[in-house]
Amino acid sequence: MNGRDHALEIEPRVTLLDALRDRLHLTGTKKGCDQGQCGACTVHVDGERVLACLTLAAQVEGRAITTIEGLADENGTLNAVQAAFLEQDAFQCGYCTPGQIMSAVACIREGHAGSDEEIREYMAGNLCRCGAYPNIVAAVRQAAQELRS
Ligand code: FES
Ligand code: FES
Repeated sequence: MNGRDHALEIEPRVTLLDALRDRLHLTGTKKGCDQGQCGACTVHVDGERVLACLTLAAQVEGRAITTIEGLADENGTLNAVQAAFLEQDAFQCGYCTPGQIMSAVACIREGHAGSDEEIREYMAGNLCRCGAYPNIVAAVRQAAQELRS
């Protein structure tokens, strides 16, 4: 988890989302719908984005998990996507933001941030009740351009 090992004794039915929030106190990963429909709980498992509310903690034993808390480097320098979200004002209440950022990092890495249309399509699983979508797309576009250059 974010570069460190954690040993947890956990019941088989506990989700990764609840393990992160309740057992490891990593509350940056948000619980929105808790049924796979909003994207607020997006984290990376071995570099791939997954919905932590639909993933059992036991399924990811021994895998590399990255949450929003693990994106900045050890000196606190923000990931390019985090910095772009700040610059583009890509949030209002901020509740969806960790999930948006985790999805955006994966979206860029997958090569699915080539145009605004593509960004919208590949970020479609992340809902924003505040409607910050234009700024979110702008932030993903900016980060993708920076990471390409
Ligand atoms: Fe997991 Fe909504 S909380 S998708
Ligand atoms: Fe409020 Fe997206 S910024 S839900």
